Amino acid sequence: MSENIISVDNLHSKLSTRDGAAYVLTDISMSIKKGSTVGVIGESGSGKTQLLLALTGNQELTPGVYNGNVEYKFTNGVNGPLKIYPNDNDDSGNKLQKLQVTTDGNYKRKRPFSYKRFVKKESKKIKSKVGFIPQDPKSYLNPYWTVETFFKQSFKRNNESGKFRSFLKDYLESVQLPFEIRDKFPNQISGGEAQRVMMAFVLSHKPDIIIGDELTTGVDVSRQRKIIELFEDIKKDKPDLTIILISHDINFLHHLVDDYFIMYGGCVVENISNKEHIFQSEYLHPYTRELINSISSNNGINSRNIDELTSSINIHKPIVGCPYLSKCTSSIEKCDKLIPEIQGTQPDSWQRCWRKFDGK
Ligand SMILES: Nc1ncnc2c1ncn2[C@@H]1O[C@H](COP(=O)(O)OP(=O)(O)OP(=O)(O)O)[C@@H](O)[C@H]1O
Ligand SMILES: [Mg+2]
Repeated sequence: MSENIISVDNLHSKLSTRDGAAYVLTDISMSIKKGSTVGVIGESGSGKTQLLLALTGNQELTPGVYNGNVEYKFTNGVNGPLKIYPNDNDDSGNKLQKLQVTTDGNYKRKRPFSYKRFVKKESKKIKSKVGFIPQDPKSYLNPYWTVETFFKQSFKRNNESGKFRSFLKDYLESVQLPFEIRDKFPNQISGGEAQRVMMAFVLSHKPDIIIGDELTTGVDVSRQRKIIELFEDIKKDKPDLTIILISHDINFLHHLVDDYFIMYGGCVVENISNKEHIFQSEYLHPYTRELINSISSNNGINSRNIDELTSSINIHKPIVGCPYLSKCTSSIEKCDKLIPEIQGTQPDSWQRCWRKFDGK
């Protein structure tokens, strides 16, 4: 078995909003193996985007992650495990000034610890290693830059040897984009093209990990097929690349992934490490079972229905028991008191369900 490239431990995240704190991620523990392709699924608002922002230290609102850790183990370039959140983080954002003994025996004041500064610094280290293809790629492209200018910045930064023209051509071709697109501004290209520009850009950094958020939203079936082929090609070329795909669309994910993580109400409730087990309902978490039932139809999977399972979570209250309690038809007494612990199901798979935990 290959080692984990990302390990997440008890990650909690909340955002300050006008209506008070929004508890967007609760007690997330998961690990992702080097070279694997994993799918994160869950209905709209279940926390998928927030999870990947937290994984990369990119949450915009404070405090963001206030407990837990994300650890990376890259093959080269970054020595040793890299933790992007301080171990003893608190939710105030700042720590009291500490006194430090200097070599001459005197005390000097250390610069106050800034949580935000720490996360920013650490997440910078993973920037070149983790490529992110966002849900809304157009808003990430500078509106005043052509595609060519956009790539030029990266070319200069990475001090690539060779000719820029062939560099650009190669990467645009690798995502099936014509070279002519180089002269266009973001408002002159379609959403799908912008997504492929981002994909080419991400690939040009030679990342260890690629994260794609909702790559198939609003995309027709033939384009979806092309995205699948593109990832299959990338994977053939770079078997060590780890890919994390976030999607509502199991049909799309099922072609590509080895592992599934299922999210509900800001929690990861299940990890299925053998993708075929997602159709073995007797083993599934009650939410995953309902999710699969609702999106399966006679002619395969109908992913459009996933959002019909709307969550009843009040995001402004911290989760105390099982997040799925109010919808679950097989809950037991314990479920409203404690978040279920992780319990192994099939080899390498796990779920959080007290009923299963108690062997009922
Ligand atoms: N900037 C923000 N301020 C306050 N709440 C937010 C913010 N961004 C997200 N949320 C809330 O966090 C929760 C998780 O949002 P997130 O965007 O991660 O969902 P998602 O699973 O990616 O949904 P979708 O499938 O629609 O993209 C939602 O309840 C959302 O309303
Ligand atoms: Mg999202």
